[in-house]
Amino acid sequence: GKSPRLIAVSNRTAIDSNARAGGLAVALWDSLKATNGLWVGWSGKIKDFPSSKTTIASDDGVDFALYDMSKAQYEGFYLNYANSVLWPLFHSRLDLVNFDQSDFRHYQDTNKQFSKAVADHATPDDYVWVHDYHFILLADELRKLSWQGKIGFFLHIPFPPPETFRALPEAIILAKALTMYDIIGLQTTMGVTNLKRLLIEVCGGVDEGGEDILVHGRTITIRHCPIGIDAVAFKASAESPQAKMATKKLRKFLGDRKLIIGVDRMDYSKGLPQRFKSVAKLFDSFPHTHGVTSFMQIAPPSRAVVDEYQQLRKTLDGLCGRINGDYGDLDWIPIRYLARAYKREEIAGLYSISDVCLVTPLQDGMNLVAKEFIAAQDPDDPGVLILSQFAGAAEQMTEALIVNPYDTDKVAEMIARALDMPLAERKKRWKSLNHNVVVEDINWWRERFFAKALAPAKTIGFTT
Ligand code: G6P
Repeated sequence: GKSPRLIAVSNRTAIDSNARAGGLAVALWDSLKATNGLWVGWSGKIKDFPSSKTTIASDDGVDFALYDMSKAQYEGFYLNYANSVLWPLFHSRLDLVNFDQSDFRHYQDTNKQFSKAVADHATPDDYVWVHDYHFILLADELRKLSWQGKIGFFLHIPFPPPETFRALPEAIILAKALTMYDIIGLQTTMGVTNLKRLLIEVCGGVDEGGEDILVHGRTITIRHCPIGIDAVAFKASAESPQAKMATKKLRKFLGDRKLIIGVDRMDYSKGLPQRFKSVAKLFDSFPHTHGVTSFMQIAPPSRAVVDEYQQLRKTLDGLCGRINGDYGDLDWIPIRYLARAYKREEIAGLYSISDVCLVTPLQDGMNLVAKEFIAAQDPDDPGVLILSQFAGAAEQMTEALIVNPYDTDKVAEMIARALDMPLAERKKRWKSLNHNVVVEDINWWRERFFAKALAPAKTIGFTT
């Protein structure tokens, strides 16, 4: 018969290379290419009526089964429950959550549809690997279809403390559904602690020691697996012709000014207004930076029809105009703000010529910009990473300049320090950061998730 394989499920896939924005799609793409897996996900299409079939496609050795969403699913499942309830709540923004029972029904229904798509394509030896907050119910739905095989879940975003989680009207249903997985991977030790507490305090689970929790008669493994990047491939992108073209274009505009860069989806979790204010404080408190330093923020809009995202857009438009109005000069634009997406190669090139990178989210599962920036640097003249203590990446990237993004005065001081940092210190910090990025890379992450307990995984060609 056919040999077992990896079947990944996520809402966003990488079938459209232009839509590989966000850490998840890039990371899964690298993992599935390495294993010749199948990727079940949303086609990106919205139809008038719900469908129950998937469309098959394939790209670079990866097979895809793509599901078209109905308009009602797109709104109720994607825009509302996933992105106006779970996303803000998991990022500890209860103030932004909008509950509505009918949205949860769409969430349940969409999880059920995707579980059918998985069951249609999977054989019992395959390993189902579910990704992110869109599909918490997937294992539960698959078990209802009497699926006996292993199911793993990896959460790309933070897992909140139970005190926050319990604000969800569906907290018990979701917590119980999580216990249907065999293994759950989380980005940080904090996430592991929070999930274990939920399973013990709310679901009556028992800590069996190590990674295991006995809950509702099943033992599930809760594993700390910080996600990484393909550092070698990213370094190569930074040296590609497309990267060279982008950097040449920017240099023409920038001259010999120093460049501070930020690259984030336009999302309220990324701390962009605070970041813009920190940059304004830099220009306010350190006038020697005037005319010789520019900040460039690339912020491709995401989920732009959701209210909170429209609000953020207005805030950033206003702040940027204000700061350039206050500090700009005939020959100098202090802040450049580009609300559009660029290709990975172009971004890699831009990182490679940046002096400082600002990664200052208020909450972030991991943040792969931090890792990509480090991977793209010239070892002989590396730039400086300023990293929020609230990004998952801060747990591994301890040699970055770690900041509290709410403390805008301190962030301004850190930027000034980064701009003046002596070459020897830059090299020393970069070397240690790059070591981590190269060693704890995307293959390390995947192997760690599947290690031990999951014997069948060995037969799926995971060893690279
Ligand atoms: C984050 C999430 C992903 C999501 C991505 C882009 O990285 O963890 O699940 O795919 O953002 O967001 P979008 O809503 O455009 O898919």
